[in-house]
Amino acid sequence: MLRVIVLRFFAFILGTLLITFSSLNVAYAADVEAGKMAYAVCAACHGANGEGNVALNSPKIAGQEPWYVRRQLELFRSGARGTAAGDIYGMQMRPMAMSIVDEAAIENLIAYVQTLPVNPPAITVEGDAAAGKVAYAVCAACHGANAEGLEQLGGPRLAGQEDWYLVRQINNFKLGRRGYHASDIFGAQMKPMASILVDDQAINNVTAYINSLR
Ligand code: HEC
Ligand code: HEC
Repeated sequence: MLRVIVLRFFAFILGTLLITFSSLNVAYAADVEAGKMAYAVCAACHGANGEGNVALNSPKIAGQEPWYVRRQLELFRSGARGTAAGDIYGMQMRPMAMSIVDEAAIENLIAYVQTLPVNPPAITVEGDAAAGKVAYAVCAACHGANAEGLEQLGGPRLAGQEDWYLVRQINNFKLGRRGYHASDIFGAQMKPMASILVDDQAINNVTAYINSLR
């Protein structure tokens, strides 16, 4: 009897130790308050609520999925985005991403961005949404039927993003200002898709359709 109790006691201790060690192993738990303080710099361009600012050419980041924000910050930091000739807006963002001190600070920022309210931005792009809907059938494969984003395929949320920013990014992919770097595997998947949109009218049409999905 005593032997069983002793064995159980050891099993209990062992279990506790295992739980303690495995919880030490879990991913870094983000600090939202620290992220909020770090976000003060970002707010100058992206807005206090991450709503974007067309006058400063800065997109909305509120409502964007954490994995996508993380990937873009890493692309800017590594130089896989924001280094192509002619990419003046990407070049403004790159030093901001590089100023984030470490991975923990990135996670804190992402955690704070997730707390920001998500509101639809003003519509600035006009196009034929019905024609855009036909074109969007291809896009849906990676961005989702409602442009909600598909993490498994790496396609970010497009619905609710500022429309002028969508137009600029489609052009950036077409012009080789995004998706140009050897390490940018997701950008390389998007680049040929942007070329399907043959002219400004086609870009405006698909953007008008994405505007209807918010
Ligand atoms: C000086 C203005 C400025 C500041 C400050 C700034 N950004 Fe940006 N950011 C931009 C611009 C401009 C772009 C768009 C680049 C482009 O058009 O490719 C951008 C793009 C981004 C993107 C990519 C969004 C997407 O959907 O592609 C993310 C994420 C981002 N910024 C996060 C941040 C964070 C986090 C901070 C604070 C550490 C920050 N930014 C500070 C100007 C700024
Ligand atoms: C094969 C998958 C795939 C298809 C199809 C696709 N995309 Fe993408 N798209 C992506 C990926 C992956 C990214 C993110 C690239 C990165 O991480 O820099 C992206 C990024 C974008 C962006 C930039 C968003 C931002 O916040 O910076 C826009 C705009 C976009 N796609 C529009 C479209 C449109 C419009 C179509 C249809 C004509 C389309 N995509 C079709 C995979 C795809």
